[in-house]
Amino acid sequence: MEVFNKFAVLLIIISLQLTTFTNMASKLVKMVTFNNGQLYPILGLGTWQATAVLNESQQSAIVDSVKKAIDIGYRHIDCATIYQNEKSVGKAINDKIADGVIKRDEVFVTSKVWNDKHRAELVEEALKNTLNDLSLSYIDLYLIHWPFATSEDPNATDSEGRLLGSGISYLETWKAMERCVQNGLTKSIGVSNFNIRQLKDILKIATIKPVVNQVECHPYLTQKKLKEFCDSEKIFLTAYGPLGSPKRSWATPDESVILDEPLVKQIGDKYNKTSPQILIKFQIQRGIIVIPKSSNPERQKENFDVWDFELSQEDIDLLESLNRNIRYFQFTTAKHLKDYPFFDEA
Ligand SMILES: NC(=O)c1ccc[n+]([C@@H]2O[C@H](COP(=O)([O-])OP(=O)(O)OC[C@H]3O[C@@H](n4cnc5c(N)ncnc54)[C@H](OP(=O)(O)O)[C@@H]3O)[C@@H](O)[C@H]2O)c1
Repeated sequence: MEVFNKFAVLLIIISLQLTTFTNMASKLVKMVTFNNGQLYPILGLGTWQATAVLNESQQSAIVDSVKKAIDIGYRHIDCATIYQNEKSVGKAINDKIADGVIKRDEVFVTSKVWNDKHRAELVEEALKNTLNDLSLSYIDLYLIHWPFATSEDPNATDSEGRLLGSGISYLETWKAMERCVQNGLTKSIGVSNFNIRQLKDILKIATIKPVVNQVECHPYLTQKKLKEFCDSEKIFLTAYGPLGSPKRSWATPDESVILDEPLVKQIGDKYNKTSPQILIKFQIQRGIIVIPKSSNPERQKENFDVWDFELSQEDIDLLESLNRNIRYFQFTTAKHLKDYPFFDEA
C-alpha cells in the first residue's frame, strides 16, 4: 500500500511538472497588443507547405507536426484556405484541446480569404467554410490574403496565362470582413500583401481598423517604409517567409539565400545562435510578428528557442543594411490586375 502511495505521489509530481512546463512554454512567448486590445503571440507557426496538393499521408504529417509545435509552446498558428490543410491543422488543435494541453482561448488561429472570394456575399461563406474545416466556432484573426480579386474560378486564365480579374474592390471586401467580426466569426481582421496606398484606402472607410498587414519580410526585404506607416497607424506587420522560404518551388540556384548569408551566420556565432534564430529574433526585436514554418519538430524547437538572448541595436542595424528589396513572392500571374500591390513602393 505504501509503495502504491509513493508511486501515486510520484505520478502527481511528474504530471504537475509537465503542466508547469506546458504553461511556462506558452507564457514564454511574448504577446503583442493589437489596436483593438486583443493580445496575440509575436511568434507563430506558418503552415504553408511547398506542395500544392497534399495527399493523405502528408495531411496526417501536418496533424502530427502541428501537435508537436503546440507541445513545444507555439500558440499562434497561421493558416489559409489556399493552403488546403485547414482540416489537418484544425484536427491537431482540437486534439490538443481534448487532451487538456491547451484551452481554445490559449491558441490564436489566423486564416485568410482567397482572391476568388472577395465579393461581399462570399466572404462570410468562405470564413464559415474555414471554420468548418478547422472545426472551430471562431478564429482569432481573418485576413484578406491579397488585395486583388480574381474571377470566381480561381484558376481561370487568359491566353497569356494571366489570371482573370473580377474588378471587385478590396473596399467591398473589407466591409464584408467587418461583418464577420460583428457576427462573432473572428475576433480581429487584417490584410496581407497590401501597400501603403491600399492601406490608406481601407483606413478611410473602415469602422473596424485592420490589426495587421502580413507581408514578406526578411533582411533582404526589410519593409522599412511600410513598417513606419503601419507603426503610425498602430497596425502590426507580420513577417512571412522570414527564413526566405527556402523550399519554394520557384527558388532559383543563382538567387541570394538569406539562410546562407555570412553576416547572419557571423551574428549567430556571436550569440551562439543559429541563422534561423537570428532571422526570427531580428523581426521580434523590430516589433514585427513572425511566423516561420517548419514541419520538423527539431527545427520547430530551434525556431522557438529565441527568448534567451537579445540582439544589440548595432546588429539589428547591420541586418537591416542587407536590404535589397528582393521579393521572393511576386505573384506574377496577377501583375496586370488593377489592385496588384507591388508597384508603388519597395
Ligand atoms: N500572406 C501570404 O501571402 C503568405 C505567403 C507565404 C507564406 N505565408 C505564411 O508564412 C509562413 C512562413 O513562410 P514560408 O513558409 O514561405 O517560409 P519560411 O518560414 O521563411 O521558411 C520555411 C521553410 O524553411 C524551412 N525551415 C524552417 N525552419 C528551419 C530551420 N531552423 N533551419 C532550416 N530550414 C528551416 C522549412 O522546412 P521544414 O518544414 O522541412 O523545416 C520550410 O521549408 C507560411 O508557412 C505561411 O503560413 C503567407
